[in-house]
Order: sequence, then structure tokens, then C-alpha cells
Amino acid sequence: MRIFIDCDPGHDDVLAILLALAHPEKFTMQGITTVAGNSTVRHVTDNILKVLDHIGVSIPVAMGCARPIRREPEPQPAAHGESGMDGPSLPEARTKADARHAVTFLHEEILRQDAPVTIVALAPMTNLAILLETYPAVRERIERICMMGGSLRGGNILPRSEFNVYHDPEAAKVVFGSGIPIVMSGLEVCAEAKTMLRAFEPLKSGGRVSRLVYELMNYYSGYARARGWDYTNVFDAVPVAQMLAPELFSGSKYRVEIETEGDLCRGMTVATPCDGAESKGCVTILEHADGARFSALMLDALRILDAAQPD
Ligand code: RIB
Ligand code: CA
Repeated sequence: MRIFIDCDPGHDDVLAILLALAHPEKFTMQGITTVAGNSTVRHVTDNILKVLDHIGVSIPVAMGCARPIRREPEPQPAAHGESGMDGPSLPEARTKADARHAVTFLHEEILRQDAPVTIVALAPMTNLAILLETYPAVRERIERICMMGGSLRGGNILPRSEFNVYHDPEAAKVVFGSGIPIVMSGLEVCAEAKTMLRAFEPLKSGGRVSRLVYELMNYYSGYARARGWDYTNVFDAVPVAQMLAPELFSGSKYRVEIETEGDLCRGMTVATPCDGAESKGCVTILEHADGARFSALMLDALRILDAAQPD
């Protein structure tokens, strides 16, 4: 499966990328594009460049939009720190980002593929919306979009809105209205795909990649510990895990509309169940996950990467 990952690293974005990297038998990662979300687009781009250098992996990275289509950026230092990836102290990356803007990069690189691709969307969908609006023909070259975002009932930025959709609801409206098949990992399935904080402890004495993840999760879990939780949600790893092990997840088809107005419901994903006969324009929303096996999949990926990236 040829994939492009659009992200805002972001502790959980990094775990998602590592999970995909651990399974080259499943994923051919053609590129990583970055967008303003958890932090500035400069910070999130530097973050993933540092991580890839640190683990000795070379994947093209292209920096994207610095702000939502029509709104001000709203970085999230409470969850990810000022840098967007506080915790580990990594050296400046030697590798530079691709010279092209993420939208240009995606357009050119998707068209270069000799088969349709999968977009893994782990952030506000600003880049993707501008890609689809600027180059409509690229839609035929995108087989599906597997995304982390939205919710059936919950919210983590407003009572009924999830951050990735909230940050750029106009972009989400374009992507959900594109007709491209979407598999949506919303807050409900991410809540079931939880990882116990104690599972990260052994990583401290693991290999290079495990130790990096220990430092990442030691910072990221602070948000959970401060609330008395003994688990955390690695949101962005869920769409990748679902592609890798679909048997761990279940969901249903819904029509999804995006609320772009209002102080209370901006970014709400309004989902109406599709009946059995309907399929066109319906989104698969994941609702349930086997949390224990999801965590095992993530931790196993670190063991694979440790073995492949010796100290
Ligand atoms: O709501 C969770 C999403 O917001 C994740 O993608 C996380 O990285 C943040 O961007
Ligand atoms: Ca993200």
C-alpha cells in the first residue's frame, strides 16, 4: 500500500509514522507532509526531520500550510508543548525538507505513482483541501483517505468537536465532500484504543527507537497523569493500526457533514447512519477497537525498529 502521511508531529503523529515504518511489507511510505496544527508548521516540520535523522530513516518531507484556510492557527502547547514535540532533546536535523510546498509535492508525487495511493491524514486537513481544490484531477489518483479526526458524540477541543476538524473545518468540509472513500478514526475508537501508561516503562531500557518513544510518551503522558488517568490515547496511531490489522476494529457507514459555524459546534462532524443499501458518499467511521491488541501492535513495532536501527 503506497501511502502519504499528512501530519503535525505531534507525539502521536510520530508513533503513527513509526508504526508504518515498522511494516514495510504493508506500507510503502512515499512522503510525509506537514501542516500547522499542534504547533507551527515550521516546528512540526523540524520535529519530524529530527526524528527521521535520529532513527536513520530517509523519507521525503515537504512543509505545508502555515494556517487554516480562513482562520487563525490554534497550536496546542498543553498537550504537545511549545515545540509541538516537547520531551526528547534531539539534535537539529541534517536532512532538509523538500524544496516544494506540501501541496505541490503531493500533486507531483501522487501523479508520479503508477497506481492510486492512500492518504493518511493525521492533522488539520488544510493541505489536502487545497490539493483537491487546486488539482481536482488528483482525486482519481487517491484510492482512500484514512484519517484521525472527528467524533460521533465527543469532543476534545469543544464539547462536540475534535481538534483536527475544529482547527480547519472549511478544509474538512472540502475533504469530506470530495467523494474520495474515507475511513474515519474518531474520538470514540481512539478512546477504546487506549494504552496503559505502565506499558511505556520498559521502553526506557530498550533500543534507540524505544528510548526515543519513552521520552516522547513520558512528556505526552503528563496530560493524562495530571488528570489521574492510568492510560493515554495515541490518537494518530489508530488509522495506521486499522490498515495494518483491520480485524482489531469495527465500524459502520455514515453520511458526515461538517459544521463550520458557531462558537459551540464549530468543527463538529455531524454523522447520519447510512442504511444498508447506501454506499456512495458514505464514510466508514470506526467505533470499536481491541485496545490490548492495539497497544501490543504499537509496542511490537518498536521492537522491530530497534532491531533494524541498532544503537
Ligand atoms: O484530536 C487528536 C488530534 O489532534 C491528533 O492528530 C493530535 O496529534 C492532534 O493533532
Ligand atoms: Ca496529529
